[in-house]
Amino acid sequence: MINMIWAMDFNNLIGDKDRIPWHIKEDLIYYKNKTKGKTVLMGDATYFSLKSYYKTKPLPYGKVYIATIDKNLKIENPLEDIEIVYDLIEFIKNFKDEIWVCGGATIYKLCLPYADRLYISFIKGDYKGDKYFPKIDYSLYDKTWEEDTEQVRYTLFERR
Ligand SMILES: NC(=O)c1ccc[n+]([C@@H]2O[C@H](COP(=O)([O-])OP(=O)(O)OC[C@H]3O[C@@H](n4cnc5c(N)ncnc54)[C@H](OP(=O)(O)O)[C@@H]3O)[C@@H](O)[C@H]2O)c1
Repeated sequence: MINMIWAMDFNNLIGDKDRIPWHIKEDLIYYKNKTKGKTVLMGDATYFSLKSYYKTKPLPYGKVYIATIDKNLKIENPLEDIEIVYDLIEFIKNFKDEIWVCGGATIYKLCLPYADRLYISFIKGDYKGDKYFPKIDYSLYDKTWEEDTEQVRYTLFERR
């Protein structure tokens, strides 16, 4: 089961340089509850961005797969269960267990064709940035859940 989880505004904006353009605590809590202890996949840029928040603390996931094309990249942290993925498409195509794809823009784009479930938090409001989620063909999915708060519309789309 390939799950993707992200937050975007209603124009598909997800990032500004290496940061998320908003700081919405309830969405961070939602994201953390969904991914805590889980097997996740992310690009190296997103991993390093998260590490700048967590600093010396381990990220709150189970196993962390980090995608890169840099064969010289070494990420070792005795507090985290990390594995580097060079051939992302082969990896995601053949992954049989549950995994949560956690970004960023490049990794979402490459993994979207293989995703079974899309957990999208639509952020209300106007923000600026330079990283976008690719166009989604919503006709491929059923919206199976939606919950609205003042700041966020939480949704789940499942592949038909
Ligand atoms: N709103 C959200 O929910 C959310 C969530 C996560 C991230 N973000 C945002 O997304 C942005 C980061 O996105 P990004 O696109 O710059 O970085 P990214 O997706 O985290 O990582 C991109 C890296 O993946 C590696 N890569 C590319 N193609 C690959 C392939 N075929 N196989 C294996 N590895 C491959 C490359 O690493 P090398 O160049 O090192 O080889 C590339 O630099 C930030 O603004 C961040 O805040 C937003």
